[in-house]
Amino acid sequence: MDFELDETAAMVAQTARDFASKEIVPRAAKIDRDGKIPRELLRGLADLGLMGVNVPESLGGSEAGVIAYSLAMIEIARGCASTAVTMSVTNMVAEVIASFGTPEQCKQYVPHLMSGKMAAGSFALSEAEAGSDPGAMRTTARLENGEWTIDGSKQWITSGDFAGVFIVWARTGGEGTRGISAFLVPADAKGLSVGHHEDKMGLRGSSTTSLHFDSVHVPESALLGQLHGGFKIAMMALDGGRIGIASQAIGVAEAALAASIDYAKERKTFGKPIAEHQAIQWMIADGRTELDAARLLTMRAAYLKQSKQPFSTQAAMAKLYASECAGRICDKALQIHGGYGYTKEYDVERHYRDVRVSRIYEGTSEIQRIVIGRSVAS
Ligand code: CAA
Repeated sequence: MDFELDETAAMVAQTARDFASKEIVPRAAKIDRDGKIPRELLRGLADLGLMGVNVPESLGGSEAGVIAYSLAMIEIARGCASTAVTMSVTNMVAEVIASFGTPEQCKQYVPHLMSGKMAAGSFALSEAEAGSDPGAMRTTARLENGEWTIDGSKQWITSGDFAGVFIVWARTGGEGTRGISAFLVPADAKGLSVGHHEDKMGLRGSSTTSLHFDSVHVPESALLGQLHGGFKIAMMALDGGRIGIASQAIGVAEAALAASIDYAKERKTFGKPIAEHQAIQWMIADGRTELDAARLLTMRAAYLKQSKQPFSTQAAMAKLYASECAGRICDKALQIHGGYGYTKEYDVERHYRDVRVSRIYEGTSEIQRIVIGRSVAS
C-alpha cells in the first residue's frame, strides 16, 4: 500500500490550491451574494486544465487521473462550492462523452468544454417526479425520418442556463430503466428553453434551472451510446460523479474547519482563547479525524476508478460518509463561531448552507445506502 501521491496528482492539486487561494477565495462571498460565478473564473479553470482532469489529452483534457481530479475538486471547493459544482458537472459530462461518444461526438463537444469555449457541460437526468428514481422519467425521444424528436421537461439542472451542451436522458422504449437512452443536445437546439431558476438555500452562485424540450429535433447521430442503454450510462457517470461530490463536501468542510481553528485561537472566553477549552478542542479533533477518514474513503474510490477496478460501492461509501461528516463539521464550525457564525460576516455561514446539498444531489444519502446495502448484503 502506498499513501504517497504521484507527481502529477501533487502538481494538479497544487495548481488548484494556488488558483483557489488567489482567484476564488477572495471572490466567494460576492459569488454567493450575486448568485453568479464570473465567466473569467470558469475560463481560468479551463485554462488550467481543471475542466477535464481525467479526460484524454487527445481531446484537450489533462489526463491526470481520478486522484488528481478528486484533489483538485477539494481545493476548488475549499474556495467556493458553487464554482466547484460547476467544475464537477462539467468534468463528469466531458468524461461521459469521452467514454461513450463516437469520435465525431467527442470532437464536436469535448475540446470546446476543455478550452472553455463552452463555459460548462450539463447533465439533464432528473425530472420533477423522477429524482432518486430516474427510471420513472417521462421525457421522450422518438426517431422519425432520421431525426430524434425530444419532448418533456427536466429539473434541478446545474448550469442549465449557460452550458454549451447537455446530456439529456429520454424514454425511447417501454417503462422502467431499460427503455431510456442518452442524447447530446447543443444549447442552441430549437425548442429547448430554460425555465425556472431555483432560489436555493446554498450554492447560490451556481445556476440550477428547469429545461423544457418542445419538439427538439436532433440528428440520429445525437444518440450517445447504445439505444435503450442510457440508464447504465447515467449510473456509471454518477458513480464517478459521486467521487467528485465527496471531494466537494471535503473541500467545504476543510474551509470550515480551518476557519474554526483560526477563530478559536483568537477568540477569548473566561480569560483564555477558546481553543484552550476542551469542549472546542474536541469539536476540532472530531472534525479533523472525520475529514481524514472521508479523504481516505474518497482516495480509495478514486484509486479504484483510476485503476479500472469496480468502484461503485466505494464511491457511494465515500459520498455518504464525506457529505454527512462535512455537514457535522460545518455545523460545529458555526457553533465554534457562536453568534458571529450566524452572520454573513463570517464564511462559515456560507459553508453551512453550501454543504447541505451534498447529502441530496448526485444521489441522496438514502440512495447511497441502497447502493452499498445491495452490494454488501445481497
Ligand atoms: N453501473 C452500471 N450499471 C448499473 C449501475 C452502475 N453503477 N447501477 C445499476 N446498473 C444497471 C443494473 O445492472 C440494471 O441493469 P439490467 O437492466 O441489465 O438488469 C439497470 O442498471 C437497472 O438497475 P437497478 O435495477 O438497480 O435500478 P433501480 O431503478 O433500482 O435504481 C438506483 C438503482 C441506484 C437507486 C438508481 O436509481 C440511482 O442511483 N438513483 C439516484 C439517481 C441520482 O443519483 N440522481 C442524481 C441526479 S444528477 C445530479 O444531481 C447532478 C447535478 O447536477 C449535481
